Amino acid sequence: MNLVVVSNRVARGKANEPMTGGLAAALLPVVEKSGAIWVGSSGRVRDGAQLEPIVEIEPLGEGALALLDLPAAHYAGYYEGFANSALWPALHSRSDLIRVSHDDYESYREVNAFVARSLMRFHKPDTLFWIQDYHFLSLGAELRDLGVKSAIGFFLHTPWPSRCVVDSLPHHPELLEAMLAYDLIGFQTADDCENFIDCLRTSLGLKVKGGVVRSRHGRTRLAVFPIGIDADKFAQAATKAVSHPDVSRLRRSLQGEKLAIGVDRLDYSKGLVNRISAFDRMWSLHPNLLRSVSLLQIATPSRESIPAYGNLQSEVARLISEVNGRHGEVDWTPIRYLNKGYGQSVLAGLYRTAQVGVVTPLYDGMNLVAKEYVAAQSPVDPGVLVLSKFAGAANELDAALLVNPHDIDGMARTIATALSMPLAERCMRYEAMMAKLHRHSIQQWFADFVTALQATELDEADVEPLPATPPGFLVRRASSSGARYH
Ligand code: F6P
Repeated sequence: MNLVVVSNRVARGKANEPMTGGLAAALLPVVEKSGAIWVGSSGRVRDGAQLEPIVEIEPLGEGALALLDLPAAHYAGYYEGFANSALWPALHSRSDLIRVSHDDYESYREVNAFVARSLMRFHKPDTLFWIQDYHFLSLGAELRDLGVKSAIGFFLHTPWPSRCVVDSLPHHPELLEAMLAYDLIGFQTADDCENFIDCLRTSLGLKVKGGVVRSRHGRTRLAVFPIGIDADKFAQAATKAVSHPDVSRLRRSLQGEKLAIGVDRLDYSKGLVNRISAFDRMWSLHPNLLRSVSLLQIATPSRESIPAYGNLQSEVARLISEVNGRHGEVDWTPIRYLNKGYGQSVLAGLYRTAQVGVVTPLYDGMNLVAKEYVAAQSPVDPGVLVLSKFAGAANELDAALLVNPHDIDGMARTIATALSMPLAERCMRYEAMMAKLHRHSIQQWFADFVTALQATELDEADVEPLPATPPGFLVRRASSSGARYH
């Protein structure tokens, strides 16, 4: 099997150990073993890259990692612009934060077209392409324009929101139409898949039957593949991490005090303001918890040049300083706040040290931190996961204490409940969640998607594609970088 996996961000093996939680960290162990070529951004940009895609290739496990320098002229419009100031807020149901310009959309399309051209050097008649995430909604359509006939799959790591939100995203009909060039589109949850089907119906007038939609591109299968982790490997890492200097120092500093931990990218979807307000409320409602539990909040800076992220950074810092000012004492700090990233081998140990894991996003595709927190626990004395019901992970981890992240009082009460939960109940919940983590491992996710993608090639054999979409809906014009949609 010739497999090419594509994502904007890639992980570069042990030396460049990725943060937990994200797509790159999740994919690394499975892509390494699969023999696939993993293509993504090198993190560098280059002038004139439109003319000649430059690819740097290095070995990665059984396969290879191919790093692309993206076109300098379009990078900001693509990444900070359309991907993260239009698509990201829309996909996380924050229409109020959508900022979009026509130029940003053009840059997004240009970068998708550029990556498609770069991928052609790996293309053989039997190559399976597996494209990851919202950065590349139109990459499949660009590959088809370049003559790729083999199967192309797409997996969305974020939620797919309701059609009212999608309607607020400029260019959404073109993007939806372009996505139908994929043979298989995978979602994290059934809700995401149903929302997408609803959008196809209302925006494109298309019906889905038996999980399949027919368009001028042929057939596209829609399915749900909840992403997982390698729970046993993570558990081993947590046991080992206990001797890591950062973990030992944290343990020594606690002196019998309990610890709650939150680990997030500094992103408005993660619900940090509500979480901190819930701790504030908890200490006010339960003064007995002052000095007996503190919160370690790791918030890794992210997408800092986008105003919404800069504003959030200031708001979170201000709120934490107010809470610490209100409840702190000369020898006790309620919230320890760290604005930097940690590698998996340290984080696993930090998770294991904490009696409560707080994962309370307002909306999240899956949230692998929730899964990692559970896997890192000691089976004989596990901590308790407090999990937002709006994280995809809540579908499987229903033995966590599920909370509504908009209900500050409710979260405060639930965190207090978690802190006093008896051992027998903690063990029961932990075992139920570990059973789910074993059932939906990252290896299973990878194998299920690839198998389903291969199966689409059989689907196609006996089906005639529908005629082209109505004239005027999709107009192509030649450009320096190939076809574009308008
Ligand atoms: O879908 C989520 C994701 O792609 C994950 O990889 C990660 O949570 C985040 O977005 C990464 O964002 P960025 O690459 O912008 O840091």
